Amino acid sequence: MTTYDIAVVGGTGPQGRGLAYRWAKHGHRVVLGSRSPDRAASVAAEVQERLPGITVSGTSNADAAAAAEVVVLAVPYDGHDELVTSVAEHLDGKVLISCVNPLGFDKLGPYALDVPAGSAAEAAAGLVPGARVVGAFHHVSAPSLWGPADFLDHEDVLVCGDEPDAKAVAVDLARAVTGRAGVDAGRLRIARQLEPWTAVLISINKRYKTRSGTAISGLPPVSPQ
Ligand SMILES: NC(=O)c1ccc[n+]([C@@H]2O[C@H](COP(=O)([O-])OP(=O)(O)OC[C@H]3O[C@@H](n4cnc5c(N)ncnc54)[C@H](OP(=O)(O)O)[C@@H]3O)[C@@H](O)[C@H]2O)c1
Repeated sequence: MTTYDIAVVGGTGPQGRGLAYRWAKHGHRVVLGSRSPDRAASVAAEVQERLPGITVSGTSNADAAAAAEVVVLAVPYDGHDELVTSVAEHLDGKVLISCVNPLGFDKLGPYALDVPAGSAAEAAAGLVPGARVVGAFHHVSAPSLWGPADFLDHEDVLVCGDEPDAKAVAVDLARAVTGRAGVDAGRLRIARQLEPWTAVLISINKRYKTRSGTAISGLPPVSPQ
């Protein structure tokens, strides 16, 4: 198994913390980033408490990104562009995985926001042309990631991107979450479909008081890497 040095930018939120927990549990080296290094250290300690013997650290978003080979964006869409710009100098040549879902909520429920770049992942690619941007982990919920199940094996992680090697990293990292490789869903612009799909899942969750996920049928027994 390949292990990666991963920075989770916005790692103090439930999604970043949950992904960090899964990856650290499966042997990856994880650093949480935050606008507040103290907050990052405190959430890193929470993750570590669940993983005796494993080190997870916390620092500023910039320092976390600088030290990693894979950087994960786990921040809200509101403020996304400013955040990406603020760490851009550390992202050149790196795999940049976005799980950002640009969603709004009103009295009718969740809905997809209009994103000028097409999707948050494409916005990141536009802001940091040297980064190898991938969209993935949009549909796995934070409570499930932080929950007790060994693997979220009833779900698939859908991955999109324009660089096969970068996409392969996210496909591989999905193993720590679902127990199997992520599903290559196509080019980066497919993020325009993946990101708003989360609004559908949230609507279903509200209606059925559940935690729905995405699973793809019809795949070959071993997913292509
Ligand atoms: N929650 C889920 O179940 C879930 C599932 C799939 C995908 N996602 C996506 O994953 C991303 C993170 O979700 P989340 O629920 O963890 O979000 P969140 O708690 O709202 O935010 C995550 C972290 O981002 C930082 N942050 C907040 N506002 C910011 C701003 N304006 N600029 C820079 N940093 C900011 C905060 O860290 P500091 O204050 O410590 O810097 C915060 O702890 C979102 O795009 C969401 O759509 C979430």
